[in-house]
Amino acid sequence: MIQIAIMGLGTVGTGVAKVVAENARQIERKLGEPLQVKTILVRHFKDGPYRQLMTDDFTKIEEDHAIRVVVETIGGVEAAYEYTKRALNAGKHVVTANKQLVAEKGAELLALAKKRGVNYLFEASVGGGIPVLHPLTQCMAANRIDEVYGILNGTTNYILTRMVRAGTTFADALKEAQEKGYAEADPTADVEGVDAGRKICILADLAFGCQVDPADVPMEGISRLSLRDVKIAQRAGYRVKLLGRAVRLPGGRTAYVAPHLIPEEQPLASVDDVFNAVVVRGNATGEVMFYGQGAGELPTASACVADVMEALQSSPRREEIGWEADPAGFEDPQALRS
Ligand code: HSE
Repeated sequence: MIQIAIMGLGTVGTGVAKVVAENARQIERKLGEPLQVKTILVRHFKDGPYRQLMTDDFTKIEEDHAIRVVVETIGGVEAAYEYTKRALNAGKHVVTANKQLVAEKGAELLALAKKRGVNYLFEASVGGGIPVLHPLTQCMAANRIDEVYGILNGTTNYILTRMVRAGTTFADALKEAQEKGYAEADPTADVEGVDAGRKICILADLAFGCQVDPADVPMEGISRLSLRDVKIAQRAGYRVKLLGRAVRLPGGRTAYVAPHLIPEEQPLASVDDVFNAVVVRGNATGEVMFYGQGAGELPTASACVADVMEALQSSPRREEIGWEADPAGFEDPQALRS
């Protein structure tokens, strides 16, 4: 029996517990042993199927030698950062869906994991259920990655789709996205492009092997778009899509997030609802596109549980990613924004 802990029991944490229980046979077949959620760290106890597993004391996880992997779904930086460091220092693998923490502290946490001989894995932090980080860093490892771009936020893509298809107002469409569990606890990060910005930073980090500070990346969301703007674009043969982009240029690299007009015949124009699409351009492969559900309980949990299984099966591996400060620096992105 392999035992794990979950920190945080929101949408993704609950999804992880469900996937571990519902797909127990498939998981056991691949691991050779059953996987069990032993402990769940919560801030407030609540009734339900996981009540017996709950604790509000992190030391119950930190000091439990039977727990080999910790899934961090707390979100935000402060507590998540502290507990992640302590779990890694205690010799446990950590898996996360927390884009903010990975974008801001990923390099440091990867270095700590390497030092401790454990894995810090974060496939679920970009693209929800879509496998993209693993293919980018492993399957495309023989390429120089020249560009990564795409629809990286499910909430805003859902809102834009509802505005185009059903004439739903921005506010009503956001409410629907929140009810479906797509939005962040504070949806400002979604609608202002910050969530997509964190994801493009993670993609740029891995694609270019340098650390990109989210504070250096211009991020514009969709909060200033009206139903009228979206309809005018549609009548002219375009779809409005919020894109994140990181690109290698002669003399530097840059990244940004902004709404774009996409001609309706292009593949990204028909990526609708909560779906995300990430295009990676390698110098040997050309463009490769990854498509699927970019947010939501089970898709995101699927990526977390796959990382748990990978952490248990492989020796620390992501150390190959040269995630060091980039000596060439990052170019001023303003030049690209026209
Ligand atoms: N709020 C995020 C989104 C969740 O809508 O894409 C998945 O990262």
